[in-house]
Amino acid sequence: MGETLIPRLIVHGGAGDWTGFDEDTVLRGVHDAAEAGAAILRAGGSALDAVEAATRILEDHPLFDAGYGSYMNEWGEVEMDAIIADGEHTRFGAVAGVRRVRHAITLARGVLERTDHCFFVGEGADHLATKLGMPIIANVELVSDGELADFRQRHNPDSKPSAHGTGTVGACAYDATGRVAAATSTGGTHDKPKGRVGDSPLFGSGGYADPAGAASATGVGENIMRYFLCKRAVDACGVGLDAATAARSAVTYLNAQIPDPEAGLILISADGRVGAAHTTQAMPIAWLTADGQIHTAMRCTADMQFE
Ligand code: GLY
Repeated sequence: MGETLIPRLIVHGGAGDWTGFDEDTVLRGVHDAAEAGAAILRAGGSALDAVEAATRILEDHPLFDAGYGSYMNEWGEVEMDAIIADGEHTRFGAVAGVRRVRHAITLARGVLERTDHCFFVGEGADHLATKLGMPIIANVELVSDGELADFRQRHNPDSKPSAHGTGTVGACAYDATGRVAAATSTGGTHDKPKGRVGDSPLFGSGGYADPAGAASATGVGENIMRYFLCKRAVDACGVGLDAATAARSAVTYLNAQIPDPEAGLILISADGRVGAAHTTQAMPIAWLTADGQIHTAMRCTADMQFE
């Protein structure tokens, strides 16, 4: 039997300007997601199960831009993207433009484990959800009261934007067998054109995992996808950087290519170390330390330690 390792996990609730939000509510949201993933890891569950469970909690939370509470597109509809990635075998399942399920991350997991394919989009992805026996819902059931009010305000030039939700969500985990996994889920950007897909479901950009580590990105997809942000961070772990330095170096690199790229990422390396960095004002995170405790923060600092 292999050695039993100390599990680790980190989740994010999205890089952005979280001004105007009740920080306690936001941090409780990421804490509860981390706790759901940590409970699985403490019981000996897999990194894949942990990142899916953590992400589902954030998809259910109306404050975050994923699942219920997703941003609406320019037509007033929700179109969601998600990826789940397994580091042990460098494989992933992804979906984009999904409209009829509450948990896009679970559909991505279905793609990974129950199909011979990697990526489903649009109507075909929703049809796959039916075939996999997932509950099918009306698109309007994904619209929270807060996002509806915000959408109306955004389309009324005389009103000020409200403080409703911001940010793609994601999780990375390292389980007791040393396997790593990552998950990312999003409703995309405010008022995006119908059919627009960001970085989140793209392997290497919005989510990535291989034997060197696992990463989940957040922010403006058009910037992140051009520089493979998640793969860049995991590759840095692969050449010996610790996770915190690797996360910062990937984000710093992106910032040097694109001024103010509005991006962030979380990362777990193959040795179970955790890192996170962002260019935005804030990025709520929660992480599991080696002593089994969950910690939270609204933003990362350059000298932040995740031990
Ligand atoms: N990062 C999410 C998006 O751009 O859609």
